[in-house]
Amino acid sequence: MENHTKEKLQDPTMQVSSLNCIDLANDDLHRSVVSLKQACLDCGFFYVINHGISEELMEDVFEQSKKFFALPLEEKMKVLRNEKHRGYTPVLDEILDPENQVIGDHKEGYYIGIEVPKDDPDYDKPFYGPNPWPDYDVLPRWRETMEKYHQEALRVSKVIGRLLALALDLDANYFDTPEMLGKPIATMRLLHYQGVSDPSKGIYACGAHSDYGMMTLLATDGVMGLQICKDKNAKPQKWEYVPAIKGAYIVNLGDMLERWSNGFFKSTLHRVLGNGQERYSIPFFVEPNHECLVECLPTCKSESNVPKYPAIKCSTYLTQRYKETHAELSIYNQEI
Ligand code: OGA
Ligand code: NI
Repeated sequence: MENHTKEKLQDPTMQVSSLNCIDLANDDLHRSVVSLKQACLDCGFFYVINHGISEELMEDVFEQSKKFFALPLEEKMKVLRNEKHRGYTPVLDEILDPENQVIGDHKEGYYIGIEVPKDDPDYDKPFYGPNPWPDYDVLPRWRETMEKYHQEALRVSKVIGRLLALALDLDANYFDTPEMLGKPIATMRLLHYQGVSDPSKGIYACGAHSDYGMMTLLATDGVMGLQICKDKNAKPQKWEYVPAIKGAYIVNLGDMLERWSNGFFKSTLHRVLGNGQERYSIPFFVEPNHECLVECLPTCKSESNVPKYPAIKCSTYLTQRYKETHAELSIYNQEI
């Protein structure tokens, strides 16, 4: 039996969450690690400031993203998402919370991963491969801007990865090996939200979910919309807005880190509500290498705290999660 328990509209006085803020330029490493650890135990969401990505690059990447989404649908369908999960995802393509959504997410997107050339031994693996790019004559500065941003965001992810390792009592460079963040699956996604959400009707800009990978670095245009639910088992669930801070990333932990850490670190439920204003965001999803076996970390188990999750290969886990949440590509065949 279907269980469409639709949420009543929340009190219009908005609940706003306050999150810890990690300053990557702070010399007091110990303090940063303590603050990060607390955030990871509490809700798995925190802000990151002084990450070294310039305001110009941020503005540029948002500007190029807006230009792409402003193109006619026909042009965008030329770079439709492929089987390697790269490219354009049309409105409603994804449904993140099928139990509570009557229709797919009111957002369109564009996945960009690490460019893996045809002669690379990893080329055949899902999630690796070349990216489709919009026509150079239509958007000449697009590819260059996206590749630059991808590179920079990956650099920041590795810095945060070292703090996370310390917070887990591991060596700082634990995640830096080629099996983990040395050659990761790292996917940025341009998102464009439109429309008004109505939880009481099961309509969402982005349905409630937790992210799949290790962590996500989220940049937004400042338009309110992201909400988190710190206790998914609470009835009713309490949703709090996470406001953007200019120049800061909103970082959240994903399910793979929850599994790695034996549930010690939290990957928290979140969603996006549309208020009628257009909203652009860019999550940067960080997952370890395709072949990485995600299994309980040595510091997160003991005789009295045995591993709660079976070990699983990163690509197997990701493939499953994408399949559960995206439309079959074949539905687009007739429309192209
Ligand atoms: C996501 C996500 C939030 C946002 O894409 O996984 O949670 O603000 N996005 O776009
Ligand atoms: Ni998410």
